[in-house]
Amino acid sequence: MLSHKRDHYCGLLRKTDVGTKVHLSGWVQRTRDLGGVVFVWLRDREGLVQLVFDNAVCTPEIFELGRSLRGEYVLTVSGEVRAREEGAINRDLATGEIEVVVEDAVLLNKSETPPIYIDDKVDENELVRLKYRYLDLRRPSMQEKLRMRSRMVNSIRMALDEEGFTEVETPILSKSTPEGARDFLVPSRLHPGTFYALPQSPQIYKQLLMLAGFDKYYQIARCFRDEDNRADRQPEFTQCDIEMSFIDEEDIYAVVERVFHRIFKDVKGIDLALPLPRITWQEAMENYGSDKPDRRFGMKLVDLTDKLGKTGFVVFDSAIEAGGRVEAINAKGLAGMTRKEIDSYAEFVKTYRAKGLPYMTFTHDGSVKSSFNKFLTPELIEHVRAAMDAAPGDIVFFGADKRSVVWQALGALRCEIAKRHGLIDHDVYDLFWVTEFPLFEYSEEEGRYVAAHHPFTSWYPEDNKYLDTDKEKVRSRAYDLVMNGIELASGSIRIHRSDMQAQMFDMIGLSHEEAHHRFGFLLDAFKYGAPPHGGLAFGIDRLIMLLTDSDSLRDIIAFPKATSANCLMMETPADVRPDQLETLKIKIDIQE
Ligand code: AMO
Ligand code: AMP
Repeated sequence: MLSHKRDHYCGLLRKTDVGTKVHLSGWVQRTRDLGGVVFVWLRDREGLVQLVFDNAVCTPEIFELGRSLRGEYVLTVSGEVRAREEGAINRDLATGEIEVVVEDAVLLNKSETPPIYIDDKVDENELVRLKYRYLDLRRPSMQEKLRMRSRMVNSIRMALDEEGFTEVETPILSKSTPEGARDFLVPSRLHPGTFYALPQSPQIYKQLLMLAGFDKYYQIARCFRDEDNRADRQPEFTQCDIEMSFIDEEDIYAVVERVFHRIFKDVKGIDLALPLPRITWQEAMENYGSDKPDRRFGMKLVDLTDKLGKTGFVVFDSAIEAGGRVEAINAKGLAGMTRKEIDSYAEFVKTYRAKGLPYMTFTHDGSVKSSFNKFLTPELIEHVRAAMDAAPGDIVFFGADKRSVVWQALGALRCEIAKRHGLIDHDVYDLFWVTEFPLFEYSEEEGRYVAAHHPFTSWYPEDNKYLDTDKEKVRSRAYDLVMNGIELASGSIRIHRSDMQAQMFDMIGLSHEEAHHRFGFLLDAFKYGAPPHGGLAFGIDRLIMLLTDSDSLRDIIAFPKATSANCLMMETPADVRPDQLETLKIKIDIQE
């Protein structure tokens, strides 16, 4: 009997194989029974090939087996590759010029009718895809994405190895590292009432490795963050985490740029132009209202605050009086959009705390219409026209509020308009650095300043003068790598002296006791000769999402979590047996 060990992949057979005897194994994609012959598409990881069960060639038993096949049956066959006749060539199939005439076959396993089509052309409900992920992963596009991911990680490892980096694994059972999310906790059996935290990143370990003299560290590191799931966020994800000693920003940029050059070359065949462009955080916010701007289209923000003066339009005037700003974007040529669409944008900006969305339309007949017609004066129109470079056919949208609200609302709006009107060129990879982030960020929720990146980030000494009086002006030595509107990487030059680290904890309102309780080991470690160091981490998942033009991280993670951090396939999180809780001395008390 035919074994299941094949000697060729279905999807790789070509015209040059005509006449070769081959042994194939795989899954049945579909069958077509024409009476005397049965055509069967067999699929393996490389693709499809057409099998021919011909009752003039194979035995009656094998022919009957061919007729009994159904989708996703597992089959092994042997036979001869033959050229298809001219009229039977299938240009859509890589193997479309040939077929395999079956001589022997064994059915290895049957399958029930799958709940989803294993076919990229069929759009299946994502919830069903996630529940039957092992079937979803049979689809060629999913296979290709995960193989690309594997090639990418391989290329990162080779690049960093050549640069002299050492990969070190750091613990998963750990202590809280502040990266701005909640921790996942793991109860301890041996020390009841205490918990490990899963690492939000290997941040502290990698700094300790610098102290230990490793000099150049990296890790393909799993990170865990209990935060709200989004298309570009998963509760567990993978970083390429990097740290170096006796360096400054330029060394980090140079190494990371070389690694990215290698990735783009290996994975996409693209020669990335180096060095990558840089813009400061201030420039990013002023022009795009975002610290991770999508620069593949225009519609930049323009600040009109100083140009407008008193307009009589209370929305503008009161924003300016309250110390806020009036800024605008020009959606060029889109004046024809419907009232309904404009209203939907007004709703959209509300999610960014804007209270409304005034607009001004420059019509083709030369007149100007707006949502605040009463207050339109020839001067106001002229100011806007000149500042916004507005021409007939344009529509200008305004933000009037606190600076942070205006930036967020107009920054998000320009992306939304670009998306809906197809203004984004998807063949462009716009990769660049954003530098000089603020060190602090005011947290409304906590009513205090927090570290904008994380509290291990150092700052420019020339900004020392603002530390007490003007915290928002202090620039950190932090940098991000942004691509197409998504933050790919973040890092900084670190604090490496215990007095400065203690000062930082103090400035973000961490008491001396609490700082010692949570990070005493780090403050202690810094006493034993910590070298100047810095690094960054980039999101492997996000990068592969962008390189495969996928809409969601769920498409490039083999077994991702659904939107409420649950796995629909394994049904996690799940309850545990009462005796397990007892061992851990944990009582559950859920109040409705
Ligand atoms: P940060 O928190 O910015 O920095 O994370 C670095 C990069 O990791 C990716 N990333 C994520 N990807 C998917 N899902 C998530 N929930 C998620 N969160 C982050 C992003 C991000 O740019 N320790 C610092 C780095 C450093 O300072 O060296 C850190 O973790 O691509
Ligand atoms: P109204 O005076 O309510 O007719 O609003 C005129 C225009 O100003 C509309 O386009 C509103 O969306 C906008 N608008 C009204 N109130 C605010 C506000 N507080 N902030 C920003 N825009 C506003």
